[in-house]
Amino acid sequence: MHANILVLPGDGIGPEVTAAGVAVLRSVAERYGHDFHFEEQLIGGAAIDATGQPLPDATLQAAQRADAVLLGAVGGPKWSDPNAKVRPEQGLLAIRKALGLFANVRPVKPHSATLGASPIKAHLLQGVDLIVVRELTGGIYFGDKTRSNSDASDLCRYSVAEIERVVRHAAQLARSRSGKLTSVDKANVLETSRLWRDVTTRVVRDEFPDVQLEHQLVDSMAMHLLAKPRAYDVIVTENMFGDILTDEASMLAGSLGLLPSASLGAGTNGIYEPIHGSAPDIAGRGIANPYATILSAALLLRHSLGLEAEAQCVEKSVAEALDAGVFTADLTTTQPAASTHAATDAVLARMDLACAAVALRD
Ligand code: IPM
Ligand code: MN
Repeated sequence: MHANILVLPGDGIGPEVTAAGVAVLRSVAERYGHDFHFEEQLIGGAAIDATGQPLPDATLQAAQRADAVLLGAVGGPKWSDPNAKVRPEQGLLAIRKALGLFANVRPVKPHSATLGASPIKAHLLQGVDLIVVRELTGGIYFGDKTRSNSDASDLCRYSVAEIERVVRHAAQLARSRSGKLTSVDKANVLETSRLWRDVTTRVVRDEFPDVQLEHQLVDSMAMHLLAKPRAYDVIVTENMFGDILTDEASMLAGSLGLLPSASLGAGTNGIYEPIHGSAPDIAGRGIANPYATILSAALLLRHSLGLEAEAQCVEKSVAEALDAGVFTADLTTTQPAASTHAATDAVLARMDLACAAVALRD
């Protein structure tokens, strides 16, 4: 198949990890006879430096034309002045919003080889396989903001329609898995959460009677996620709760550097990015963990291009690199760490066998 893939490296380690993702996608194209065309554009701090804008028009237009977007990360100390008029993060929020990507899907499945990298006891992690569906284009991230000398405010607002569409997405996903859905809110305090709970209850009752829904308050969810992570399958929540809970959930996998994400909307276009940030402290040193971006590329193959076997091949190759103990610095303190290049090469080197195994399985 032919596909146009827009690459937005962004800031910090973004260029290093997206290069790894592109190398894997090129290898997929070659193996399976696809014709992937890559275009690169600026976003975030790099875009501010070059154009004054965190999301230049050329970038947004390229994203709208593309079949899928692979993104690194945005932000860094250079652009973090609290009084700055423009910030790198605004570019990321604006592109998510402009493309209508309301569902941010973040799978968390600890790999047996990296259980030791997690601060959580291994026996609690075995068998954990959960997916957080984070609402991505509403809530406090996008409400009106005010600031005066003596106060500041951020408005948190949700419409019924915004809640319905992300809950439907999560309930479909739950239906395709164990049928269990956990909705997270703060309905004991927030009016938006009470609306969230009402809408979620109705949508699941009327449209997904086969799905078993439970509600959790976000504070206790933060505790349960570490105390009994196996109890969860699909978790759906609003924008900021999802942001916070998924950084927490990354500790189940052992490192923020292992978690991919897919931001999806009504069509097939999507943004695929690691959940980690730009890690300015290690940028440019060639030591960043590329696995989360490579796994995001697998999600791109699956969700935007419909290439399931190809996605599985990439995921299997990463799993086998981890099995072989190819660990970047975030995953080990006891053995010499693999560089970004070495980890990427370890994945590429396993694709022959992994793709063949996936083909046999189908
Ligand atoms: C994420 C990031 C972003 C967010 C930041 C960089 C704006 O933390 O993708 O989780 O908060 O959504
Ligand atoms: Mn985040």
